[in-house]
Amino acid sequence: MRRAGLVALAAALLPLAAVAAEDGRQFVAMPAEARAELRAEMIDFQSALHQIVAALGEGRHGDAADAAEKQIGVSAMGRHRHAAPNARPGMHMPAEMHAIARGMHVSASEFAKAARAGDVAKSLQSLQTVTGACVSCHRAYRTQ
Ligand code: HEC
Repeated sequence: MRRAGLVALAAALLPLAAVAAEDGRQFVAMPAEARAELRAEMIDFQSALHQIVAALGEGRHGDAADAAEKQIGVSAMGRHRHAAPNARPGMHMPAEMHAIARGMHVSASEFAKAARAGDVAKSLQSLQTVTGACVSCHRAYRTQ
């Protein structure tokens, strides 16, 4: 009886193990403090993106530009500059991951410039480069 229970449990867990093994993303080890900072920053990025799309939809290009520059753009870089090393996510990122992050900041600033100039086509292109950076990083790396 007991044995049958264990076998059933193993059978139930097997698909989970298979899913875990299929996760091809690179694991990046970070101290808990750095991960907590990264998560807080990520939630802010998501809110910023939401604000940007809302502002664009309502034709408030200046507001979209401000949100992008302040919250994701080059102006938002170095948020953890004065934190202890164990609370600085960037210090624990492999070079390529860090490059994706920098590219995201630069693209958000390019978006801000284009949006401020009222160039809708160009601003959407830059915004897609921003979301592309979110996607590339999330598809390539994991921290847990
Ligand atoms: C350089 C890599 C990188 C980039 C670029 C990046 N992320 Fe992330 N993101 C991560 C990692 C790593 C995690 C997992 C953090 C953890 O829990 O340890 C994460 C987690 C998140 C989460 C989940 C937070 C939670 O509650 O656990 C959200 C939401 C998110 N990112 C949004 C975004 C958005 C939106 C963008 C683009 C504007 C973006 N990220 C760009 C690396 C990145």
